[in-house]
Amino acid sequence: MKLNIPILLMTMRDGAVSDQAAQFVQRQLVSRGVESVIVDPEDYHEKKSFEQEHVQPWSEIMKAADALVIVSPEYNHSMPGPGKEMLDTLYEEYEKKPVAICGVSSGTLGGARVIEHLKTVMIELKMVAIREAMYFAKARELFNEDGTIKDASYEQWMDKMFTELFWYAHVLKAGREGKIDVGL
Ligand SMILES: Cc1cc2nc3c(=O)[nH]c(=O)nc-3n(C[C@H](O)[C@H](O)[C@H](O)COP(=O)(O)O)c2cc1C
Repeated sequence: MKLNIPILLMTMRDGAVSDQAAQFVQRQLVSRGVESVIVDPEDYHEKKSFEQEHVQPWSEIMKAADALVIVSPEYNHSMPGPGKEMLDTLYEEYEKKPVAICGVSSGTLGGARVIEHLKTVMIELKMVAIREAMYFAKARELFNEDGTIKDASYEQWMDKMFTELFWYAHVLKAGREGKIDVGL
């Protein structure tokens, strides 16, 4: 079964390195036979906020999704507002779906603190945050212009993260579709 896993980009900052990280993650997903689009908050942002009527395409993307990948830079030890507002516009669409988080930072921690913050938000959204994550440290020097990565060792970590994410995507999908009898 072909999985469908969108990528939510959390920032709208001009020239954000997270754009390149998201492109890298998307290529990795597509090369594993997964259907994946990058969801950019900039495409949904109206003058004042992310109005419900304008986020309909995002709602449709998440309804069809088997899992989600979040690519987030760390801003002041937490998540950027635009991505958080995008997350806040939906609810049922996320339920019982797994999520993997990729942190991006110019420092050495690779967004470790924003990853931990996002995990607690995922619980509230009834998503299943997996342990495996990507820590894109020193990100400003890590990516080539075309979204490829300079340090190939990240691809091995990505393999581990996707193996876990795909397992949950298949199992939770079967559960949501009532194919697993849990006796409830
Ligand atoms: C408002 C703001 C706050 C930031 N706070 C942090 C931080 O808390 N920790 C960190 O490692 N980097 C921080 N950075 C630097 C980012 O890690 C750096 O910009 C990196 O390229 C990832 O963000 P980007 O996708 O916006 O480029 C911050 C950057 C901005 C613009």
